[in-house]
Amino acid sequence: MHISNFDLYRDLLKEKSGLTLTPDKAYLIESRLMPIAKKWGYTSLDNMCMALRGVPDPNLIKDIVEAMTTNETSFFRDTKPFDLFRDHILPAMMKDRASARKIRIWCAAASSGQEPYSLAMLLKEKGAALANWQIDILGTDISTDILETAKRGEYSQFEVQRGLPITMLMKYFEQKGERWIIKDDIKKMVKYQYFNLLDNMAALGRFDIVFCRNVLIYFDKETKGEILGRIAKQMAPDGMLLLGGAETVMGITETFKAVPDKRGLYMRADSPALASTSAATAVK
Ligand SMILES: C[S@@+](CC[C@H](N)C(=O)[O-])C[C@H]1O[C@@H](n2cnc3c(N)ncnc32)[C@H](O)[C@@H]1O
Repeated sequence: MHISNFDLYRDLLKEKSGLTLTPDKAYLIESRLMPIAKKWGYTSLDNMCMALRGVPDPNLIKDIVEAMTTNETSFFRDTKPFDLFRDHILPAMMKDRASARKIRIWCAAASSGQEPYSLAMLLKEKGAALANWQIDILGTDISTDILETAKRGEYSQFEVQRGLPITMLMKYFEQKGERWIIKDDIKKMVKYQYFNLLDNMAALGRFDIVFCRNVLIYFDKETKGEILGRIAKQMAPDGMLLLGGAETVMGITETFKAVPDKRGLYMRADSPALASTSAATAVK
């Protein structure tokens, strides 16, 4: 691929999705975009660039952006965030919202649905304690293809073997041939919607809990800070944010602070709840 064409793909992806590509990742462009070039009738990536330099079909851009996303995920990925959700976040929210009985959760890079469905199963496990509560889980992603997979809630043997306890598999899935389909009562707890994290978030409303895991790693520091700043504005003052294992707010933004002793968990820096947590930790 001609070097100036690498720059074109890099700039296009940065502008449309936030994805940052360094020259050592040129091979990713080759391997992921060649099938798109073929699909659209171009013989090479240089050839497809000519179309992109003109007035490109928005569907071609969509295909390019989607092909460059990494949708790697699994049920209860990394375990700890889900333990935190069950043992710390949910009990705190249930106590603080005992009169409103309403919790809104956002999975901001939902991929094929394993993350939001893992949360839905944990909520279901609470049984009667959450009866009469209104709990909304919104799963969003930039890839409409992957969201279709999430909506189907249908997984392979390999996918359900990664992280999903067998008891949950038996309880919340139905087997159909070689596929496992999540039951309707769990499926209907999650709504899916296309959303690009670079876009204005105001219309999404306010959230109590945000899972934004394993997506900021693909963005540069400035974009990460900008997205985190906008997520903070969508969160309740005592809302809780979970990032991925390789992600942090340190050195990126002042809008969130890490919750002491709770790895991966963050609250708005101006949260009164965080002030009391820090005070409690300091006194200990
Ligand atoms: C590696 S997956 C993470 C899935 C899940 N959160 C987890 O931790 O297992 C990253 C997801 O982020 C999505 N993504 C990438 N750029 C995005 C953007 N600008 N806006 C919204 N989603 C984006 C990708 O389509 C992909 O499904």
